[in-house]
Amino acid sequence: MTDHIQFSSDKNALILLDQRILPGREEYFACTNTETTIYALQTMVVRGAPAIGVTAAYGCYLAACEVDPADVQWKARLEKLLKDLEDARPTAVNLRWAVDLMRRAWQAEPGLTLTGLREKWLDMAKDIHAQDIEINKAMGRYGADLIDDGDTVMTHCNAGALATAGHGTALGVIRGAWEQGKKIQVIANETRPFLQGARLTAYELHKDGIPVKVACDNACALLMQRGMVQKVVVGADRIAANGDAANKIGTFGVAILAKHFGIPFYVAAPASTFDLSCPTGADIPIEDRTPREVTHVGDHQITPQGVGVFNYAFDATPSELIAGIVTEKGVIRAPYVENIAKIIGGK
Ligand code: MRU
Repeated sequence: MTDHIQFSSDKNALILLDQRILPGREEYFACTNTETTIYALQTMVVRGAPAIGVTAAYGCYLAACEVDPADVQWKARLEKLLKDLEDARPTAVNLRWAVDLMRRAWQAEPGLTLTGLREKWLDMAKDIHAQDIEINKAMGRYGADLIDDGDTVMTHCNAGALATAGHGTALGVIRGAWEQGKKIQVIANETRPFLQGARLTAYELHKDGIPVKVACDNACALLMQRGMVQKVVVGADRIAANGDAANKIGTFGVAILAKHFGIPFYVAAPASTFDLSCPTGADIPIEDRTPREVTHVGDHQITPQGVGVFNYAFDATPSELIAGIVTEKGVIRAPYVENIAKIIGGK
C-alpha cells in the first residue's frame, strides 16, 4: 500500500488517504497549503512518525508556493510557515527532522530564487517519500530474522504502511517475516482512544491476507499469561540517545508485561526517529491531545458531562525493556548509549 500519500502535480497538492474514517470509508483529503497540511497533521488525517515526516516535507514545498516572490518579506514569511509546520505535533521527531532537512538545503543556497527553492523542495520531498519505502523494506529484512515460524506477534498502535510512505516499520518486520514464508499471526492491540490498532493495523494486514486479530488493550496481560504471544514489535515516534523509545500511549505497559512474561519486545524505527539531543525518554515531549478523543466515540459522549480525562498520546519505554531496535542500518542492541552513538550518530 503506497497510494495513501500522493503528490498531484495537476492539483499542486498533497493527497492523503483520510485515516480518521478508515476502515469504513476510503476518502482522500487534499493539502493545498500550510494551513491544510497542519490541519491534516493535527487531526490525524495522516499520522505515524515517518508519514508525518513525508507530509511535512511536502508541506515545506506548499509553504514555498504560498509566499509571494514580490513580497520583500517573503523569506521571513516562509520561515514563519516552516515554524508553524514544525510545531504541528510535538512528539514525532520526524516532523522536525524533515523541516530541518529542507531548511538546511535552503541555508546552503541562500541566493536561490523562490522558484528555484520550490523546485528544490519538491524534488527533496519526492526523494524523502521514495526513500522511506526503501528504508522500511531494509528494516523489514533485518527484523524478519527476529521472528520465528509459528510466532504470534503483538503490536500496539499502527506502525504500518499507513504510518509511513509504505510497508511500515513494525509491520514491515511482520511483512518481512511473512514474505520469508513464516506462518505467523498478529495481535493488534486496539489502541484507545484513536483506535489505530483496531481500525488501521487490522485494515492493512487483513487487506494483505496476513492473519490478524484485534484485542482490547487491557487483554494484553491475559494473552501473554496464556502463552498466546511470542514476540512484541512496535514502532516509535522518537528514540532518545539511551534507547528509551516514545511510542503510542500504552506501549510502556505492554513492554513491562512482556518483560514479566519473558517475551522479547522489539522497536522498529528508521534513523530519522532518533533524537540524540534527548539524553533519555524523560526529555521527549509528550503530546497532550484534545479530551474529546476520550470523552466521545464519534458524536456520542461516553463519559459523564463535566468529568475531566487524561489524553496523553505517547509514553516512553525505558531501553532496559527493549530487546533490540530494528533500523535500516541493522538491529541495535544494548549497551544502547554506545551502540546508538556508533550506528546512528556515526561516532
Ligand atoms: O498518534 P499517532 O497515530 O501518530 O501515533 C503513531 C505511533 O505511535 C506509531 O507507533 C509511531 O509513529 C511509529 S509509525 C511507523
